[in-house]
Amino acid sequence: MNELKFTSKFILYKNSSELSELDNNLLLKAIEARNNAYAPYSKFCVGVALLLDNGSIIQGNNQENAAYPSGMCAERVAIWNAASQFPDVIIEKIFISAKSENKVVDKPVSPCGACRQTIAEYEVKQVQEIEILFTGETGKIIKAYSISDLLPLAFDNSFLK
Ligand code: THU
Repeated sequence: MNELKFTSKFILYKNSSELSELDNNLLLKAIEARNNAYAPYSKFCVGVALLLDNGSIIQGNNQENAAYPSGMCAERVAIWNAASQFPDVIIEKIFISAKSENKVVDKPVSPCGACRQTIAEYEVKQVQEIEILFTGETGKIIKAYSISDLLPLAFDNSFLK
């Protein structure tokens, strides 16, 4: 029997003033998307901006539904928006920002499990890592260099072949 141990590396920024100009611009686009979220039930608004390697920035936000499970997270709205418009373009970065009407979100909001799985799918597809940056409304920002740091031992298409 052997122990299998994983380590993950993240960069922690104390606030947006520590970001590069490129990343800060992406954050502003995520906030812009967040402001258009449709979240009348949870009042928890999430905005995402993706940077593609053709220079395009693609946005997405959460879209809720009175039939709750029919809603969709911001990350998947953004990724599928990008994939539907630019099917062969590489996603370089994803920036996630969240804000609640109920309280100040002052810690980084990481993507849910289903969104991690979706990000993993596109990393495998494009054979290139995707940087994932996430934050709340204020405060710290976390950056991961790859989804493998957030989702070790992911299920992928190698199991299907
Ligand atoms: N939400 C996202 O958009 N992304 C996540 O990664 C976690 C949760 C949304 C879904 C729902 O509209 C609201 O946040 C509360 O769960």
